[in-house]
Amino acid sequence: MMDPVEILKEEHRNILRGVDLLDRLARIAQKGELLVDPIDNMVHFFRQYADVGHHQKEEDLLFTALFEKDETLQGEFSPIGELQAQHVEGRRLVGRISAKTSFSDDAQDYGSLIRRHIEIEDTLFPELVVSRFDTSEMEQLRVKFLEVEDLNTTAKLLALLDTVTYSL
Ligand SMILES: [Fe+2]
Ligand SMILES: [Fe+2]
Repeated sequence: MMDPVEILKEEHRNILRGVDLLDRLARIAQKGELLVDPIDNMVHFFRQYADVGHHQKEEDLLFTALFEKDETLQGEFSPIGELQAQHVEGRRLVGRISAKTSFSDDAQDYGSLIRRHIEIEDTLFPELVVSRFDTSEMEQLRVKFLEVEDLNTTAKLLALLDTVTYSL
């Protein structure tokens, strides 16, 4: 059974798949073709899968549980404060991507932000969780992750990545 950190890592891999697709759309746009439907599909994927599904687990469940354990983790200049700020910046960039006024630049900015962000989280989360949670607390977190998960919606969002892949 996957522990909560593994669940987040698995979601990171799916988000990175989305970012790779966005890169391809950016390269196509640089050659002069703005593929509106695939771009809109990717915006939907990032808003729903990354922001609603994944960031909800991090911000509402993992970060909250970590702050309860250790309040020194809180604050603008803490590592988690930085991650929260990157989530906000990511949402801003997805807004710009959806406007399609400077699509390839915004797509590249979003890609580098998300790749950096995920690299930090994949290193930091295992350390934080293992050092602060015992087995039963890890299990509680895993159960909470499952409670907020809507498997149907998740499956549809992942299928959207295939739809975009096949359309390129
Ligand atoms: Fe994050
Ligand atoms: Fe994440």
